[in-house]
Amino acid sequence: MYAQTLSLKNYRNIQNEEVFFTPGVNFLYGENAQGKTNILEALYFYARGKSFRGATDKEQTAFGCDGYETSLTFQDSQRSQVMSYRYCKGEKVRQRNGMNVDRATEFLGHFRAVLFFPDDLEMVKDGPEARRNFLNVAISQCNSSYVKYYATYKRCLEQRNALIKYAQKNDVFDEEQLYAWSDSLASSAALIHLERKRYLSFLSGHTQSFIEELSKGKEKIDMTYESAVEGESRKELYESYKKVLTENWRKEFIVGYSLYGIHRDDVDLKINGRSARLFASQGQQRTIVLSLKMAEGAVCRELTGEEPVFLLDDVLSELDEKRRRFFLEEISGPQILMTGCDKSLFSSDKTNIIEVKGGQYVSAHR
Ligand SMILES: Nc1ncnc2c1ncn2[C@@H]1O[C@H](COP(=O)(O)OP(=O)(O)O)[C@@H](O)[C@H]1O
Ligand SMILES: [Mg+2]
Repeated sequence: MYAQTLSLKNYRNIQNEEVFFTPGVNFLYGENAQGKTNILEALYFYARGKSFRGATDKEQTAFGCDGYETSLTFQDSQRSQVMSYRYCKGEKVRQRNGMNVDRATEFLGHFRAVLFFPDDLEMVKDGPEARRNFLNVAISQCNSSYVKYYATYKRCLEQRNALIKYAQKNDVFDEEQLYAWSDSLASSAALIHLERKRYLSFLSGHTQSFIEELSKGKEKIDMTYESAVEGESRKELYESYKKVLTENWRKEFIVGYSLYGIHRDDVDLKINGRSARLFASQGQQRTIVLSLKMAEGAVCRELTGEEPVFLLDDVLSELDEKRRRFFLEEISGPQILMTGCDKSLFSSDKTNIIEVKGGQYVSAHR
């Protein structure tokens, strides 16, 4: 698939713009703080359902305005679609092909993109949250059930945590309610756990072949889902999650939150048999993350039949020549949107070069 136009009104430092993209490589270049990342942020919202910078709608609204609007036209393998989002003083309106979409979760799974930005390079070294996020975002784009399971899980977790907090503060608790929330939590945890493992089985194969190619056969990666519970089937997992949740409430009442569940799980990455978190060199970390991102695209293609758009924010400058060339040659998706400062890397006959200055976008192609 590829993005055709993105219109923005009062979005961050952009007043009123319509940005045109072409299939193939689009390079947004300009000095710092001009609005390059802002465009990717607005675009990736359609794939992820929120800002990848963790910004609220209010923070994304241009200073001094009450709200903002963006609209995306894109082409998938079947047809052209339009999605739009309007925010004004706390009200949100989502539309797809002219129809209102009430639930945020139903907005996902139409426009698909793989984002790669410099913080991703910390995915190997950082704590488990970065890896869980990676899985959540990647799976959400391929599997609409996952989005629903996850929303249910989050709701149950909030309720269960509130109950634990209340019990901790008042020294009393409603055993029946705790049991009920543990049961619901275990039930959606089992579904999410299974989906994550299934996704990992696809992802690890692709990641391994990219790593092998990049390292000329020298590096091998192992990826395993790490959890406090074990089980192969939904029923086994449900029973296991339920067991740890019902047996450990005393510990949970001391700390004040739920200690078990998929919000505590992780992905263990091993490079040549050793923990990547502890032992991967900088070069190996880059190779791993680069391969994971390419694999994310390959799995999306495999599971949905759609080629995602690749969004690369300032990453080319972070990669050495060998990895940069490999990446650009290997991501065979129909569209790449990337940002950077150095336009000499690209020739204007093959690339849609867009100059970004003060929230305005000028392309030589138009
Ligand atoms: N809510 C906002 N309203 C107006 N301007 C904003 C808002 N949020 C960020 N900006 C401006 O956007 C610019 C940063 O844009 P960004 O796309 O991150 O830059 P870069 O081109 O370096 O990627 C800064 O000038 C910043 O002040
Ligand atoms: Mg930027």
